[in-house]
Amino acid sequence: MTNRRFAAAVAAASLVVSGFVATATVHAAGPQVGVVLPDSASSPRWVTDDQPLLEKAFKAAGVTYDIKNASGSIPTFTTDAQAMLTEGVKVLILVNLDSPSSAAVEATAKKQGVATIDYDRLTLGGSANYYVSFDNVAVGVLQGKGIVACLKAHKVAHPRVVYLNGAPTDNNATLFKQGYASQVGPYLKATGGKLLSDKSVANWDNTLAGTIFEQQLTTAGGKLDAVVSANEGLGLAAVAVLKKNNLNGKTCVSGQDASAAGLAAILTGDLSNTVYKPISQEANGAASLAISLVKGTKAVTNGSVKDGARTVPSVLLIPTTITKKNVEVTVKDKFRTAAEICAIAGAAACAANGVK
Ligand code: BGC
Repeated sequence: MTNRRFAAAVAAASLVVSGFVATATVHAAGPQVGVVLPDSASSPRWVTDDQPLLEKAFKAAGVTYDIKNASGSIPTFTTDAQAMLTEGVKVLILVNLDSPSSAAVEATAKKQGVATIDYDRLTLGGSANYYVSFDNVAVGVLQGKGIVACLKAHKVAHPRVVYLNGAPTDNNATLFKQGYASQVGPYLKATGGKLLSDKSVANWDNTLAGTIFEQQLTTAGGKLDAVVSANEGLGLAAVAVLKKNNLNGKTCVSGQDASAAGLAAILTGDLSNTVYKPISQEANGAASLAISLVKGTKAVTNGSVKDGARTVPSVLLIPTTITKKNVEVTVKDKFRTAAEICAIAGAAACAANGVK
């Protein structure tokens, strides 16, 4: 199903749901839906995008909710989720910090007859009823294609490249790498280029990414053509180091999330390419499933994923690549405002690229 057809199906399902709300009397003491988000430091998205968009969807459907942020702590994640189960939620939406801790929460929820939804990150070995995310291999493919296009534009004969991967505990990081390696690997082979370093960043920690990248730049002897970085937090950490060495803009760097800072860095040329994931589709997809589970109406999915022998019914969405040429897409979509991007990028960079 295309994104547009999926959005239409969700809208139709919500109509049924809102019709139901109008006539039903709800006597819920605690919240009906619980959400645990992972942190607020690995990417601004969880606080600036996911949380408000989920809140908006629940409010529109008249469903009560509680949204907590685990602040990067697995004990906090577990305590928050357990507290929501004690409060009597009907559905738990989880963005895991690692699979084992999330699988444990899901097992407890299942025992209590509470449905669970893996949001953005699949819990390996878990028991979630649904999974809502983007096609994360496709995200990585876009990142890799963007890096290859940048290397070509810079006319680099034998590219010297490093990988700055996401958290090894996040299944998405594995999928992103699978995607970008499928593009960059063969290009390096074809051009006689080199992958000089391949490092993962625990917890997607942006500060740690800077330290790791400094070492990578040293390993490369200060001569580097591209940093394949799994998100903007990591990419911008690399850019800060490149800046100190007057290498920003000359080195291709990828990102993901289309944050205001990330898009500004695209406009100034510090990042070569990033990935825009329309989070409203993801939040609405998960909220619709949760609302259906609460109300007992039909749940809308558009695919499934495999986790070992288990098949998880899923909502899978399509990402978009962003370069200087199409930053404007995120503004037209009302995902970002020109004002917030241009406050960081500067008016000249915005004017030069038609962002208004
Ligand atoms: C998400 C990315 C995010 C990263 C760090 C991944 O699982 O898909 O959007 O940048 O986690 O929070």
